[in-house]
Amino acid sequence: MKTIESVTYDGSKIILLDQTKLPNEEVYLEVEDLKDLWDAIFELKVRGAPAIGIAAAFGLALFSNQLKTDNSLTFVKQCREISETLASSRPTAVNLFWALRRMETILDESKSVSELKSLLDKEAHAIKADDADICKTIGQYGLTLLKDGMTLLTHCNAGGIATANKYGTALAPIYLAKEKGMNIHVFADETRPLLQGARLTTWELLQADIDVTLITDSMAAMVMRQGKIDAVIVGCDRIAANGDTANKIGTYGLAVLAEKHGIPFYVASPLSTIDLETKTGETIPIEERKAEEITEGFGKRTAPEDDVMVYNPAFDVTPNELITAIITEKGIVHAPYEKNLKQLFK
Ligand code: MRU
Repeated sequence: MKTIESVTYDGSKIILLDQTKLPNEEVYLEVEDLKDLWDAIFELKVRGAPAIGIAAAFGLALFSNQLKTDNSLTFVKQCREISETLASSRPTAVNLFWALRRMETILDESKSVSELKSLLDKEAHAIKADDADICKTIGQYGLTLLKDGMTLLTHCNAGGIATANKYGTALAPIYLAKEKGMNIHVFADETRPLLQGARLTTWELLQADIDVTLITDSMAAMVMRQGKIDAVIVGCDRIAANGDTANKIGTYGLAVLAEKHGIPFYVASPLSTIDLETKTGETIPIEERKAEEITEGFGKRTAPEDDVMVYNPAFDVTPNELITAIITEKGIVHAPYEKNLKQLFK
């Protein structure tokens, strides 16, 4: 399987696969300053919870390396300011804050600036390397839930390019099944309004030679009723302590449908996406994005020019009781989530 590197860092620049250009063009952006990285995250050029965290970690490594001061106190203060700026790019995916916090643990003022720069660089690369191992392990656990010949429905894109490795989270079990010669069919929701399912998931799966059928979001109910779907598997942006899960808008609806049709609903999540400090889904911050994503997505006006009110939340929250299991790198977790998620961190 070809590995597509969505985020890399060579010590002087961050190289991002521009996901807004897919599937028509495979373009790589070279990012060398803070504003450009902030924009790339905000504009979804780099997207997917783990990939955003990795990009931000590389950002802190790169921009701290550009700092001119030799004074550790000043250096640490400026690093924290860079971190704060990066953290303001998107609010929902907790991996962004998790990765920046992990980087900030390096910022010990008693160390020299050159030592701190080298440690930040190392830590950012470690975050990416860990993510690759974690995604593979999630895939191995997820694979235990699959049988040859199954058809899965997924939403948005939680594949390799949403992380920075070849497996991703929700797609990892599917890639591993393919490696084992199993035949898994995937239905991919188009994922309105930014079409991550249509543009990214189908693109990724086709490159891996995995059978994929594209549907619009509103077709999910019918294909479930027709008995075409054996399980739903999605990624996530933040799981609260009680298991309530934020993921791309439309995920909640799928979970409701899955319950109605007696279909298991699985969430694949690295521990870095589980936020025990957020008690329930009620307090997960939900990003609201600009109206134009709905009224003139991809440059074509599809709503009246004037006065149309638009509500565009980018994520929704699936209540824990609709989730059959959460697949993590430490194993498969079932309800009661409050107790069992906490257990993972012991
Ligand atoms: O707005 P996006 O494209 O960043 O949303 C991404 C998702 O909702 C993914 O499902 C989630 O981040 C998991 S990625 C492994």
